[in-house]
Amino acid sequence: MHTTTATTPYTSTQPLTRNKHLLKWIDKMSALLKPEAIHWVDGSQEEYDSLCAQMVEGGTFIKLNEEKWPNCYYAKSDPTDVARVEDRTFICSLSKDNAGPTNNWVNPFEMRKKLKDLFDGAMRGRTMYVLAFSMGPVGSPMSQLGVQLTDSPYVVVNMRIMARIGLPVFRKIDENLKRVVPCVHSVGKPLEPGQQDVPWPCNKEKYIVHFPETREIWSYGSGYGGNALLGKKCFALRIASNMARDEGWMAEHMLILGVESPEGEKTYVAAAFPSACGKTNFAMLIPPDCFKDAGWKVWTVGDDIAWMRADANGRLRAINPEAGFFGVAPGTSNKTNPNAMASLAKNTIFTNVALTPDGGVWWEGMTDEPPAECLDWRGMKWTPEIAKATGAKAAHPNARFTAPASQCPTIDPDWENPEGVPISAIIFGGRRATTMPLVYQAFNWSSGVYIGATMGSEMTAAAAGTIGKVRRDPMAMLPFCGYHMGDYFRHWINIQRTLTETPRVFNVNWFRKDEDGKFLWPGFSENMRVLKWIVDRVRGRAYAKETPLGWQPLYEHMDWTGLDFPREEFESLQKVDRMSWRTEVMGHEELFLELHAHLPKEMVYERELLICRL
Ligand code: OXD
Ligand code: MN
Repeated sequence: MHTTTATTPYTSTQPLTRNKHLLKWIDKMSALLKPEAIHWVDGSQEEYDSLCAQMVEGGTFIKLNEEKWPNCYYAKSDPTDVARVEDRTFICSLSKDNAGPTNNWVNPFEMRKKLKDLFDGAMRGRTMYVLAFSMGPVGSPMSQLGVQLTDSPYVVVNMRIMARIGLPVFRKIDENLKRVVPCVHSVGKPLEPGQQDVPWPCNKEKYIVHFPETREIWSYGSGYGGNALLGKKCFALRIASNMARDEGWMAEHMLILGVESPEGEKTYVAAAFPSACGKTNFAMLIPPDCFKDAGWKVWTVGDDIAWMRADANGRLRAINPEAGFFGVAPGTSNKTNPNAMASLAKNTIFTNVALTPDGGVWWEGMTDEPPAECLDWRGMKWTPEIAKATGAKAAHPNARFTAPASQCPTIDPDWENPEGVPISAIIFGGRRATTMPLVYQAFNWSSGVYIGATMGSEMTAAAAGTIGKVRRDPMAMLPFCGYHMGDYFRHWINIQRTLTETPRVFNVNWFRKDEDGKFLWPGFSENMRVLKWIVDRVRGRAYAKETPLGWQPLYEHMDWTGLDFPREEFESLQKVDRMSWRTEVMGHEELFLELHAHLPKEMVYERELLICRL
């Protein structure tokens, strides 16, 4: 039945499940979507190779130079389909109040009517792929199952890297022990008979819709990233945050890493930073040479999402529900993140980066010297001279690599442990030029929740006139929390009751600047020094000083081996400026006003205590 040459597509038309509910749903959906054919995705390498070959033939993919980039492919999206569309993302809970003021809400009955019209015949002339996926290792008690119907082979091959898919997942679904989240995705570009397809089909009308009560996802019009790979933001954060609230666990926008001491002691931490604040770099941190030589190691469990729950002993444990990295390419280099570069060296899909004449890829920041010439993400000729004259970027700023996590040199031996890894600390952090010290520890869990809830990040440097303008991004979940943000804070407060051992909570800021706009902290590898202090605090080995914000290390509490960092600079980095904190606290109040009807009283008390201490 299965053939693998490029010209004869791999066929898989027989249902791969016996689950009656699933079969019935697929019948109903195919009657609505009206695809030309149905392909049951088994998840095999042969199937992957065939789909890639088919996309090369159709012009969606270019196969990269096999010697330099083994088994890698290159895609350019439609220029109008390059990022998540937050303004087209909807949480359609029964009540508007449940979605809260930070989400777009539409009445679910109205939305269902709209979706029915949009999806009627949406897959005409295309193949519908039936893609079963597991978020988390197949069979882990912490994992969740989904089935995505999609008319995009690009989505299928990306999902094969980002999640566990295919036959083993259908076997789990057949056991009928776990609810399956139905996900429907169409690029919204049906083909008439004989109509020629385009390399990147999509529709200018886009809808990314979540029904939290019925745990459904419907995505229309986009083929890119978080809009289309529905296991990631839609399921693992928006729908999972609803499941987690109902079931007493946590679905968070967090990296997970493990710090190994020279004695072999392992301490895991989870960290929430907003997008573009260096989560992937921190997750793959390489300690400075002197730490490395002494035997310190950092292990990577995940770079974007953490699912956490109390184990039988009341210890918080986390899994990374994903199996790959969907990382931002620009800025990634052998200097900034050699582990990411090693992860993406083979078996990777690149989207919207630049294509070099030797069949390789390039992006801004990958090398000091740009290539003399390449094709930019829109397929136009790009040279450093053109860039200088027009400001044109070779890679789109949101260009991505989709790479298997297993290829990361520092992937943790326990990264697929079905029980997860024990979490000893939670770290919050945004991009703040002023106000926020390099590091401090919360006094306790509720003050830690307050720190996460009031977290902010400065708008990008380009936003002239808005210097110091901070966007509140609670727990880095602003675009991803699938219900009312105030209830989410309440859920965080409640979680402590499920734990016998409370993780310590910290806040970090790698981005503080001096009066001349120069970064005060070198960042990258040197962040290991902060991480070591955090680990030592968790283990009861490090000292700290009580300040209005929490516990802060003094200069002599930090390990400075191998780095000549002046005491005065550290003091500037750690300074708590009372005037700036007045403004900061007003910013917290602005968020709280918006959420007031659902705001836990602990948040109000914490704010009052902070004001008193200041
Ligand atoms: C991501 C994001 O793609 O946060 O991870 O936008
Ligand atoms: Mn993210």
